[in-house]
Amino acid sequence: MTNSETGTGPRSVEFPLRVPGEAFPPPRYEEYRRDPGLVLTHLPNGNKVWLVTRHQEVRAVLTSKKISSNPSHEGFPHISDTIGVPRPEQIPGWFVGLDSPEHDRFRKALIPEFTVRRVRTMRPAIERTVDERIDALLAAGDSADLVADFALPIPSLVISALLGVPPVDRDFFESRTRTLVSIRTSTEQQRDLASRELLRYINRLIAIKQDWPGEDLVSRLLATGGISAQELTGVLMLLLIAGHETTANNIALGVVTLLLNPEWIGDERAVEETLRFHSVADLVSLRVAVEDVEIAGQPIKAGEGIIPLVAAANHDPEAFACPHAFDPARTERHHVAFGYGVHQCLGQNLVRAEMEIAYRRLFERIPSLELAVPAEELPLKYDGVLCGLHALPVRW
Ligand code: HEM
Repeated sequence: MTNSETGTGPRSVEFPLRVPGEAFPPPRYEEYRRDPGLVLTHLPNGNKVWLVTRHQEVRAVLTSKKISSNPSHEGFPHISDTIGVPRPEQIPGWFVGLDSPEHDRFRKALIPEFTVRRVRTMRPAIERTVDERIDALLAAGDSADLVADFALPIPSLVISALLGVPPVDRDFFESRTRTLVSIRTSTEQQRDLASRELLRYINRLIAIKQDWPGEDLVSRLLATGGISAQELTGVLMLLLIAGHETTANNIALGVVTLLLNPEWIGDERAVEETLRFHSVADLVSLRVAVEDVEIAGQPIKAGEGIIPLVAAANHDPEAFACPHAFDPARTERHHVAFGYGVHQCLGQNLVRAEMEIAYRRLFERIPSLELAVPAEELPLKYDGVLCGLHALPVRW
Protein backbone atom coordinates (compact mmCIF):
# COMPACT_ATOMS: atom_id res chain seq x y z
CA MET A 1 0.00 0.00 0.00
CA THR A 2 1.33 3.47 -0.77
CA ASN A 3 -0.03 6.82 0.16
CA SER A 4 3.06 8.81 -0.79
CA GLU A 5 1.65 9.16 -4.31
CA THR A 6 -1.44 10.90 -2.93
CA GLY A 7 0.80 13.24 -0.96
CA THR A 8 -0.91 12.36 2.30
CA GLY A 9 2.10 11.10 4.20
CA PRO A 10 4.86 8.53 4.13
CA ARG A 11 4.61 5.39 2.02
CA SER A 12 3.44 2.50 4.17
CA VAL A 13 4.53 -1.03 3.25
CA GLU A 14 3.79 -4.47 4.58
CA PHE A 15 6.17 -6.51 6.70
CA PRO A 16 8.00 -8.80 5.87
CA LEU A 17 9.64 -6.51 3.39
CA ARG A 18 10.67 -9.26 1.03
CA VAL A 19 9.19 -12.50 -0.14
CA PRO A 20 11.24 -15.69 -0.62
CA GLY A 21 12.41 -16.20 -4.18
CA GLU A 22 12.18 -12.57 -5.33
CA ALA A 23 15.21 -10.81 -6.81
CA PHE A 24 17.61 -9.18 -4.41
CA PRO A 25 17.88 -6.27 -3.74
CA PRO A 26 14.13 -6.05 -4.31
CA PRO A 27 13.27 -3.74 -7.22
CA ARG A 28 10.77 -1.99 -4.88
CA TYR A 29 13.70 -0.41 -3.05
CA GLU A 30 14.11 1.87 -6.08
CA GLU A 31 10.63 3.32 -5.50
CA TYR A 32 11.19 3.65 -1.77
CA ARG A 33 14.41 5.53 -2.37
CA ARG A 34 12.70 7.96 -4.71
CA ASP A 35 10.16 8.98 -2.04
CA PRO A 36 11.29 12.23 -0.46
CA GLY A 37 11.01 11.04 3.16
CA LEU A 38 11.14 7.64 4.85
CA VAL A 39 9.04 4.51 4.38
CA LEU A 40 6.87 3.16 7.19
CA THR A 41 6.21 -0.45 8.11
CA HIS A 42 4.70 -2.22 11.11
CA LEU A 43 5.98 -5.43 12.67
CA PRO A 44 3.43 -8.17 13.43
CA ASN A 45 3.35 -6.93 17.07
CA GLY A 46 2.17 -3.54 15.79
CA ASN A 47 5.45 -1.70 16.44
CA LYS A 48 6.14 1.13 14.04
CA VAL A 49 9.42 0.94 12.08
CA TRP A 50 10.91 3.52 9.72
CA LEU A 51 12.90 2.25 6.73
CA VAL A 52 15.83 4.28 5.50
CA THR A 53 17.01 3.68 1.96
CA ARG A 54 19.33 6.48 0.84
CA HIS A 55 23.07 6.15 1.44
CA GLN A 56 23.55 9.52 3.13
CA GLU A 57 20.61 9.02 5.47
CA VAL A 58 21.62 5.45 6.33
CA ARG A 59 24.96 6.81 7.50
CA ALA A 60 23.17 9.59 9.44
CA VAL A 61 21.06 7.00 11.30
CA LEU A 62 24.07 4.82 12.09
CA THR A 63 25.96 7.75 13.65
CA SER A 64 23.13 9.52 15.49
CA LYS A 65 23.45 9.73 19.28
CA LYS A 66 19.65 9.86 19.51
CA ILE A 67 19.37 6.40 17.98
CA SER A 68 20.23 3.24 19.90
CA SER A 69 21.27 -0.34 19.14
CA ASN A 70 20.05 -1.61 22.49
CA PRO A 71 17.27 -4.19 22.06
CA SER A 72 16.00 -3.65 25.61
CA HIS A 73 14.55 -0.24 24.66
CA GLU A 74 10.80 -0.10 24.13
CA GLY A 75 9.97 -0.16 20.41
CA PHE A 76 13.18 -1.92 19.26
CA PRO A 77 12.46 -3.82 16.02
CA HIS A 78 12.90 -7.43 17.17
CA ILE A 79 13.02 -9.06 13.77
CA SER A 80 14.24 -12.32 15.34
CA ASP A 81 10.76 -12.73 16.92
CA THR A 82 9.13 -12.59 13.48
CA ILE A 83 11.22 -15.51 12.21
CA GLY A 84 11.04 -17.64 15.35
CA VAL A 85 14.62 -17.49 16.59
CA PRO A 86 15.61 -16.78 20.19
CA ARG A 87 16.92 -13.33 21.04
CA PRO A 88 20.66 -13.92 21.43
CA GLU A 89 21.16 -10.41 22.75
CA GLN A 90 19.98 -11.64 26.15
CA ILE A 91 23.38 -13.30 26.68
CA PRO A 92 25.81 -11.01 28.60
CA GLY A 93 28.63 -9.87 26.31
CA TRP A 94 26.42 -9.59 23.19
CA PHE A 95 27.94 -6.15 22.65
CA VAL A 96 26.42 -5.36 19.26
CA GLY A 97 23.32 -4.59 21.32
CA LEU A 98 25.03 -2.07 23.60
CA ASP A 99 25.50 1.67 23.17
CA SER A 100 28.43 3.81 24.15
CA PRO A 101 29.98 3.86 26.75
CA GLU A 102 29.19 0.16 27.64
CA HIS A 103 29.92 -0.87 24.05
CA ASP A 104 33.35 0.85 23.98
CA ARG A 105 34.94 -1.55 26.48
CA PHE A 106 34.22 -4.58 24.29
CA ARG A 107 35.19 -2.87 21.07
CA LYS A 108 38.49 -1.69 22.56
CA ALA A 109 39.35 -5.20 23.75
CA LEU A 110 38.50 -6.82 20.40
CA ILE A 111 39.86 -4.37 17.83
CA PRO A 112 43.46 -5.64 18.12
CA GLU A 113 42.21 -9.14 17.23
CA PHE A 114 40.90 -8.05 13.82
CA THR A 115 43.43 -5.54 12.51
CA VAL A 116 44.82 -5.93 8.99
CA ARG A 117 48.12 -6.97 10.53
CA ARG A 118 46.59 -9.64 12.79
CA VAL A 119 44.50 -10.99 9.91
CA ARG A 120 47.67 -11.26 7.83
CA THR A 121 49.02 -13.74 10.39
CA MET A 122 45.84 -15.81 9.96
CA ARG A 123 46.14 -16.08 6.19
CA PRO A 124 48.17 -19.34 6.11
CA ALA A 125 45.54 -21.03 8.33
CA ILE A 126 42.71 -19.69 6.14
CA GLU A 127 44.52 -20.87 3.03
CA ARG A 128 44.92 -24.34 4.59
CA THR A 129 41.23 -24.51 5.50
CA VAL A 130 40.18 -23.48 1.98
CA ASP A 131 42.59 -25.95 0.37
CA GLU A 132 41.33 -28.80 2.55
CA ARG A 133 37.77 -28.09 1.44
CA ILE A 134 38.88 -28.07 -2.21
CA ASP A 135 40.77 -31.36 -1.69
CA ALA A 136 37.52 -32.84 -0.35
CA LEU A 137 35.52 -31.50 -3.33
CA LEU A 138 37.97 -32.97 -5.82
CA ALA A 139 38.14 -36.30 -4.00
CA ALA A 140 34.34 -36.62 -4.03
CA GLY A 141 33.91 -36.42 -7.82
CA ASP A 142 33.22 -33.86 -10.52
CA SER A 143 30.23 -32.00 -9.08
CA ALA A 144 29.24 -30.49 -5.72
CA ASP A 145 26.99 -28.14 -3.84
CA LEU A 146 29.33 -25.26 -3.09
CA VAL A 147 27.09 -23.88 -0.35
CA ALA A 148 27.11 -27.04 1.79
CA ASP A 149 30.60 -28.25 0.88
CA PHE A 150 32.58 -25.02 0.59
CA ALA A 151 30.94 -21.72 1.58
CA LEU A 152 29.32 -22.81 4.86
CA PRO A 153 32.22 -24.75 6.46
CA ILE A 154 34.95 -22.17 5.77
CA PRO A 155 33.85 -19.34 8.09
CA SER A 156 33.18 -21.52 11.10
CA LEU A 157 36.40 -23.49 10.64
CA VAL A 158 38.29 -20.19 10.44
CA ILE A 159 36.57 -18.79 13.53
CA SER A 160 37.12 -21.97 15.50
CA ALA A 161 40.84 -21.79 14.70
CA LEU A 162 40.85 -18.12 15.75
CA LEU A 163 39.19 -18.95 19.06
CA GLY A 164 41.64 -21.75 19.78
CA VAL A 165 39.21 -24.66 19.33
CA PRO A 166 41.41 -27.77 18.96
CA PRO A 167 41.34 -29.24 15.40
CA VAL A 168 39.72 -32.45 16.65
CA ASP A 169 36.62 -30.49 17.82
CA ARG A 170 36.23 -28.28 14.76
CA ASP A 171 33.74 -30.55 13.00
CA PHE A 172 31.54 -30.55 16.11
CA PHE A 173 31.81 -26.77 16.24
CA GLU A 174 31.02 -26.44 12.55
CA SER A 175 27.98 -28.71 12.60
CA ARG A 176 26.40 -27.02 15.65
CA THR A 177 26.98 -23.54 14.24
CA ARG A 178 25.47 -24.60 10.94
CA THR A 179 22.34 -25.93 12.67
CA LEU A 180 22.05 -22.74 14.67
CA VAL A 181 22.06 -20.45 11.65
CA SER A 182 20.01 -22.68 9.30
CA ILE A 183 16.60 -21.29 10.04
CA ARG A 184 14.85 -23.08 7.19
CA THR A 185 16.48 -26.51 7.41
CA SER A 186 16.59 -27.00 11.17
CA THR A 187 13.74 -27.12 13.67
CA GLU A 188 13.45 -24.79 16.63
CA GLN A 189 14.27 -27.73 18.93
CA GLN A 190 17.41 -28.59 16.95
CA ARG A 191 18.52 -24.97 17.08
CA ASP A 192 17.88 -24.80 20.82
CA LEU A 193 19.93 -27.94 21.38
CA ALA A 194 22.76 -26.72 19.11
CA SER A 195 22.80 -23.40 20.95
CA ARG A 196 22.98 -25.13 24.36
CA GLU A 197 25.74 -27.47 23.16
CA LEU A 198 27.75 -24.57 21.78
CA LEU A 199 27.34 -22.52 24.95
CA ARG A 200 28.45 -25.52 27.01
CA TYR A 201 31.44 -26.05 24.71
CA ILE A 202 32.39 -22.36 24.80
CA ASN A 203 32.18 -22.26 28.60
CA ARG A 204 34.43 -25.31 28.81
CA LEU A 205 36.85 -23.74 26.32
CA ILE A 206 37.04 -20.58 28.44
CA ALA A 207 37.69 -22.65 31.59
CA ILE A 208 40.47 -24.58 29.82
CA LYS A 209 42.08 -21.38 28.51
CA GLN A 210 41.97 -19.89 32.00
CA ASP A 211 44.11 -22.77 33.26
CA TRP A 212 46.20 -23.41 30.13
CA PRO A 213 46.45 -20.22 28.06
CA GLY A 214 47.57 -20.54 24.45
CA GLU A 215 48.23 -18.32 21.42
CA ASP A 216 44.60 -17.55 20.67
CA LEU A 217 41.92 -14.88 20.98
CA VAL A 218 40.26 -16.41 24.05
CA SER A 219 43.53 -16.61 25.99
CA ARG A 220 44.48 -13.05 25.03
CA LEU A 221 41.10 -11.62 26.03
CA LEU A 222 41.24 -13.44 29.37
CA ALA A 223 44.76 -12.10 29.97
CA THR A 224 43.77 -8.46 29.40
CA GLY A 225 41.03 -8.81 32.03
CA GLY A 226 38.76 -6.16 30.45
CA ILE A 227 36.01 -8.69 29.81
CA SER A 228 34.75 -11.15 32.43
CA ALA A 229 34.64 -14.88 31.71
CA GLN A 230 30.81 -14.71 31.74
CA GLU A 231 30.77 -11.87 29.20
CA LEU A 232 33.31 -13.72 27.10
CA THR A 233 30.68 -16.40 26.45
CA GLY A 234 28.43 -13.83 24.76
CA VAL A 235 31.35 -12.29 22.88
CA LEU A 236 32.35 -15.66 21.43
CA MET A 237 28.77 -16.54 20.49
CA LEU A 238 28.49 -13.16 18.75
CA LEU A 239 31.69 -13.74 16.76
CA LEU A 240 30.50 -17.17 15.79
CA ILE A 241 27.03 -16.13 14.66
CA ALA A 242 27.90 -12.72 13.16
CA GLY A 243 30.65 -14.18 11.03
CA HIS A 244 29.15 -17.43 9.81
CA GLU A 245 26.30 -17.12 7.36
CA THR A 246 27.19 -13.56 6.38
CA THR A 247 30.58 -14.74 5.13
CA ALA A 248 29.23 -17.99 3.64
CA ASN A 249 26.58 -16.10 1.64
CA ASN A 250 29.17 -13.71 0.27
CA ILE A 251 31.47 -16.57 -0.72
CA ALA A 252 28.67 -18.42 -2.56
CA LEU A 253 27.13 -15.37 -4.24
CA GLY A 254 30.57 -14.10 -5.20
CA VAL A 255 31.43 -17.39 -6.93
CA VAL A 256 28.22 -17.15 -8.98
CA THR A 257 28.90 -13.54 -9.87
CA LEU A 258 32.44 -14.40 -10.95
CA LEU A 259 31.22 -17.32 -13.06
CA LEU A 260 28.82 -14.92 -14.76
CA ASN A 261 31.51 -12.24 -15.13
CA PRO A 262 34.65 -14.34 -15.71
CA GLU A 263 36.71 -11.34 -16.80
CA TRP A 264 36.99 -10.49 -13.07
CA ILE A 265 38.26 -13.88 -11.93
CA GLY A 266 41.67 -13.38 -10.33
CA ASP A 267 41.09 -9.66 -9.68
CA GLU A 268 41.16 -8.89 -5.94
CA ARG A 269 38.86 -5.91 -6.43
CA ALA A 270 36.00 -8.37 -6.96
CA VAL A 271 35.89 -8.91 -3.17
CA GLU A 272 34.86 -5.36 -2.29
CA GLU A 273 32.42 -5.14 -5.16
CA THR A 274 30.80 -8.46 -4.18
CA LEU A 275 30.22 -7.07 -0.70
CA ARG A 276 28.53 -3.95 -2.09
CA PHE A 277 26.71 -5.62 -4.95
CA HIS A 278 25.08 -8.38 -2.87
CA SER A 279 24.80 -6.53 0.47
CA VAL A 280 23.63 -9.71 2.17
CA ALA A 281 23.24 -8.14 5.64
CA ASP A 282 20.38 -5.88 4.60
CA LEU A 283 18.29 -6.21 7.76
CA VAL A 284 21.05 -6.54 10.32
CA SER A 285 21.53 -3.01 11.64
CA LEU A 286 18.41 -2.63 13.77
CA ARG A 287 17.85 0.56 15.73
CA VAL A 288 15.38 2.45 17.91
CA ALA A 289 15.09 6.20 18.53
CA VAL A 290 15.76 7.05 22.17
CA GLU A 291 15.03 10.76 21.67
CA ASP A 292 12.84 12.51 19.13
CA VAL A 293 14.89 12.88 15.97
CA GLU A 294 14.37 13.95 12.35
CA ILE A 295 15.71 11.93 9.39
CA ALA A 296 15.05 12.97 5.78
CA GLY A 297 12.56 15.55 7.05
CA GLN A 298 10.56 12.83 8.81
CA PRO A 299 10.05 13.38 12.55
CA ILE A 300 10.68 10.12 14.43
CA LYS A 301 9.50 9.82 18.02
CA ALA A 302 11.49 8.22 20.83
CA GLY A 303 10.46 4.56 20.97
CA GLU A 304 9.98 4.14 17.21
CA GLY A 305 12.07 1.55 15.38
CA ILE A 306 14.42 2.37 12.50
CA ILE A 307 15.99 0.01 9.96
CA PRO A 308 18.65 1.31 7.59
CA LEU A 309 18.42 -0.97 4.55
CA VAL A 310 22.06 -1.33 3.55
CA ALA A 311 21.27 -3.04 0.23
CA ALA A 312 19.15 -0.04 -0.76
CA ALA A 313 21.91 2.36 0.30
CA ASN A 314 24.55 0.39 -1.60
CA HIS A 315 22.48 0.66 -4.77
CA ASP A 316 21.76 4.37 -4.36
CA PRO A 317 22.68 6.11 -7.65
CA GLU A 318 23.58 9.26 -5.70
CA ALA A 319 26.41 7.29 -4.06
CA PHE A 320 27.41 4.76 -6.75
CA ALA A 321 27.49 5.31 -10.51
CA CYS A 322 25.51 2.58 -12.34
CA PRO A 323 24.78 0.90 -9.00
CA HIS A 324 23.25 -2.24 -10.51
CA ALA A 325 26.37 -3.06 -12.52
CA PHE A 326 28.96 -5.43 -11.02
CA ASP A 327 32.04 -3.34 -11.56
CA PRO A 328 35.08 -4.16 -9.40
CA ALA A 329 36.95 -1.27 -11.04
CA ARG A 330 34.60 1.35 -9.61
CA THR A 331 36.35 3.92 -7.48
CA GLU A 332 33.62 4.53 -4.88
CA ARG A 333 34.67 2.59 -1.80
CA HIS A 334 32.17 3.86 0.76
CA HIS A 335 29.65 1.02 0.71
CA VAL A 336 27.84 0.23 3.96
CA ALA A 337 27.71 -3.58 3.61
CA PHE A 338 29.51 -3.75 6.96
CA GLY A 339 27.33 -1.07 8.53
CA TYR A 340 28.76 2.28 9.57
CA GLY A 341 29.76 4.10 12.76
CA VAL A 342 30.70 2.50 16.07
CA HIS A 343 29.13 -0.87 15.30
CA GLN A 344 30.76 -1.22 11.88
CA CYS A 345 31.64 -4.89 11.37
CA LEU A 346 34.54 -5.94 13.53
CA GLY A 347 35.34 -8.93 11.31
CA GLN A 348 35.61 -7.06 8.01
CA ASN A 349 39.35 -7.55 7.48
CA LEU A 350 38.97 -11.24 8.21
CA VAL A 351 36.05 -11.54 5.75
CA ARG A 352 38.01 -9.84 3.00
CA ALA A 353 40.87 -12.31 3.49
CA GLU A 354 38.49 -15.29 3.51
CA MET A 355 36.71 -14.17 0.36
CA GLU A 356 39.91 -13.36 -1.50
CA ILE A 357 41.52 -16.70 -0.63
CA ALA A 358 38.33 -18.69 -1.31
CA TYR A 359 37.84 -17.22 -4.81
CA ARG A 360 41.52 -17.36 -5.74
CA ARG A 361 42.14 -20.94 -4.66
CA LEU A 362 38.84 -22.23 -6.05
CA PHE A 363 39.40 -20.84 -9.55
CA GLU A 364 43.12 -21.66 -9.53
CA ARG A 365 42.55 -25.27 -8.56
CA ILE A 366 39.32 -25.90 -10.47
CA PRO A 367 39.61 -23.71 -13.59
CA SER A 368 36.84 -25.62 -15.39
CA LEU A 369 34.31 -24.83 -12.65
CA GLU A 370 30.82 -24.05 -14.02
CA LEU A 371 27.24 -23.78 -12.81
CA ALA A 372 25.33 -27.06 -13.03
CA VAL A 373 21.98 -25.23 -13.41
CA PRO A 374 21.12 -21.93 -15.14
CA ALA A 375 21.81 -18.95 -12.87
CA GLU A 376 18.09 -17.99 -12.88
CA GLU A 377 17.27 -21.35 -11.32
CA LEU A 378 19.62 -21.00 -8.35
CA PRO A 379 17.52 -21.09 -5.16
CA LEU A 380 17.84 -17.65 -3.61
CA LYS A 381 17.56 -17.82 0.15
CA TYR A 382 15.96 -15.15 2.24
CA ASP A 383 15.51 -16.05 5.89
CA GLY A 384 14.13 -12.74 7.06
CA VAL A 385 17.48 -11.18 7.90
CA LEU A 386 20.16 -12.26 5.42
CA CYS A 387 20.21 -13.06 1.73
CA GLY A 388 22.10 -15.94 0.21
CA LEU A 389 21.67 -19.20 -1.68
CA HIS A 390 20.13 -22.44 -0.44
CA ALA A 391 22.45 -24.40 -2.73
CA LEU A 392 25.03 -23.79 -5.43
CA PRO A 393 25.23 -26.83 -7.73
CA VAL A 394 28.45 -26.77 -9.76
CA ARG A 395 30.47 -29.21 -11.87
CA TRP A 396 33.93 -29.29 -13.43
C1 HEM B 1 30.63 -10.79 4.68
C2 HEM B 1 30.53 -11.03 5.95
C3 HEM B 1 29.98 -10.07 6.96
C4 HEM B 1 29.08 -9.08 6.82
C5 HEM B 1 28.35 -8.65 5.53
C6 HEM B 1 28.90 -8.46 8.12
C7 HEM B 1 28.06 -7.39 8.36
C8 HEM B 1 27.98 -6.74 9.58
C9 HEM B 1 27.17 -5.58 9.82
C10 HEM B 1 26.24 -4.90 8.82
C11 HEM B 1 27.37 -5.20 11.11
C12 HEM B 1 26.78 -3.98 11.81
C13 HEM B 1 25.64 -4.33 12.73
C14 HEM B 1 24.96 -3.11 13.30
O1 HEM B 1 25.11 -2.01 12.75
O2 HEM B 1 24.20 -3.25 14.27
C15 HEM B 1 28.31 -6.14 11.68
C16 HEM B 1 28.76 -6.09 12.99
C17 HEM B 1 29.58 -7.05 13.54
N1 HEM B 1 30.22 -8.07 12.88
FE1 HEM B 1 30.06 -8.54 10.94
N2 HEM B 1 29.70 -9.10 9.02
C18 HEM B 1 30.39 -10.09 8.37
C19 HEM B 1 31.32 -10.96 8.91
C20 HEM B 1 31.77 -10.94 10.19
C21 HEM B 1 32.81 -11.80 10.75
C22 HEM B 1 33.59 -12.84 9.98
C23 HEM B 1 32.89 -11.51 12.08
C24 HEM B 1 33.79 -12.04 13.14
C25 HEM B 1 34.54 -13.06 13.10
C26 HEM B 1 31.95 -10.44 12.35
C27 HEM B 1 31.77 -9.87 13.57
C28 HEM B 1 30.96 -8.78 13.80
C29 HEM B 1 30.79 -8.19 15.11
C30 HEM B 1 31.44 -8.65 16.40
C31 HEM B 1 29.92 -7.10 14.95
C32 HEM B 1 29.45 -6.15 16.04
C33 HEM B 1 30.40 -4.98 16.12
C34 HEM B 1 30.01 -3.97 17.17
O3 HEM B 1 28.86 -3.93 17.62
O4 HEM B 1 30.89 -3.19 17.54
N3 HEM B 1 31.29 -10.13 11.19
N4 HEM B 1 28.68 -7.05 10.73
